[in-house]
Amino acid sequence: MSRQLCLIVPLAHGELARQALIGLDVFDNTFAPQQIGGDLALPIRERVNCNGFEFPSSIGTVELKPSPPSINPHDRLRNAILPMVDAANELTQSIPKKWERLDDLILFPKDAFQGQAWKQVIDKQKDFFVHVAKALNAQRVGRQQPIADDQMRTARVELLHGDDGWVEVKDNGLVYGFDATKVMYSSGNVTERHRMASLHAEGEVVIDAYAGIGYYTMPLLVHGKVEHVHACEINPNSIKALEWSAKRNGVNSNLTIHEGDNRFTLERLEGHADRILLGYLPSSEATWRPAIGALKPVGGTLHIHMNVEEERIDSWSKETIETCLNFARQIGRKWYVVHHRIEKVKWYAPRIRHVVLDVSFSSINSAS
Ligand SMILES: C[S@@+](CC[C@H](N)C(=O)[O-])C[C@H]1O[C@@H](n2cnc3c(N)ncnc32)[C@H](O)[C@@H]1O
Repeated sequence: MSRQLCLIVPLAHGELARQALIGLDVFDNTFAPQQIGGDLALPIRERVNCNGFEFPSSIGTVELKPSPPSINPHDRLRNAILPMVDAANELTQSIPKKWERLDDLILFPKDAFQGQAWKQVIDKQKDFFVHVAKALNAQRVGRQQPIADDQMRTARVELLHGDDGWVEVKDNGLVYGFDATKVMYSSGNVTERHRMASLHAEGEVVIDAYAGIGYYTMPLLVHGKVEHVHACEINPNSIKALEWSAKRNGVNSNLTIHEGDNRFTLERLEGHADRILLGYLPSSEATWRPAIGALKPVGGTLHIHMNVEEERIDSWSKETIETCLNFARQIGRKWYVVHHRIEKVKWYAPRIRHVVLDVSFSSINSAS
């Protein structure tokens, strides 16, 4: 209990008064309002002018209990931050409203807590991010930077509180371990991950040409029950994650990791695969030719990811199939298309979709 500044109003006007104080941004929700006879004492952070209200009111100090912790994380974050900033400060409007949770790490968007005014608050309150983490039941806090525009799509995360970025994330009965400050986790690709988990690919040999941390490799091995996955990956941090996740999910004996540029590692896998995943944006075109060579001579399936303008999806898919058949002809494979379909994963930008073209080829000889 502690004595707090309050606006005291008749009980019947309590809700009206509370809304008015919230509107003035002076209602102090870290304390619980208190009934005193026929009146209600509403905690306020600073004096208000009672003449402006359309209900009887007075200001006084009253012994109040702290409010029980809110179950709403947005309220909890706000309640933790408000005592650290001046209540009238415009910063109260820019308390982040969204974030991503990876294990016990909270990742705020790149514009969160940025600018001179926030810097002053954070410099003054050394354990600012400890309070933020605690409010969101987390141990670590980070801020996202744009994904690096490099070949490895390196994640750029600034750790604001915590010692390291290693996280262990559960999805669809699987566990993925990775350093969130060094590699990227596409939480938006969940539908495609689950689609890969439900493919009828039992007993197949699969190549994941851009394996990353194993978003598709793990579901295929565990749920898809494929016989073996050859995972091509160039980023040593993603390889560390892949190795960890394969062990953790009990499939390391069914996985071979090929470190390096997939244009070369795919060549070494010539004629090996029943199915190849080409999961790279904006385009995986650089690997179409070696991928055709890495399918078994009898044919197989490609899953070709691409960012395509909505109105070009049909023509792009026809052109891509034609290009792949040409590559096949060039290496002496007489193939035809058994089946093809387009999966629309998500909007990448206005009018541009991330699509996956599934295309299955079979050799004319094997059909006869
Ligand atoms: C954006 S991630 C994609 C992961 C996953 N397939 C997905 O779509 O969510 C792309 C991965 O491909 C890897 N990569 C990019 N170019 C590569 C190359 N030429 N050879 C091997 N790996 C490559 C990057 O390091 C990164 O881990």
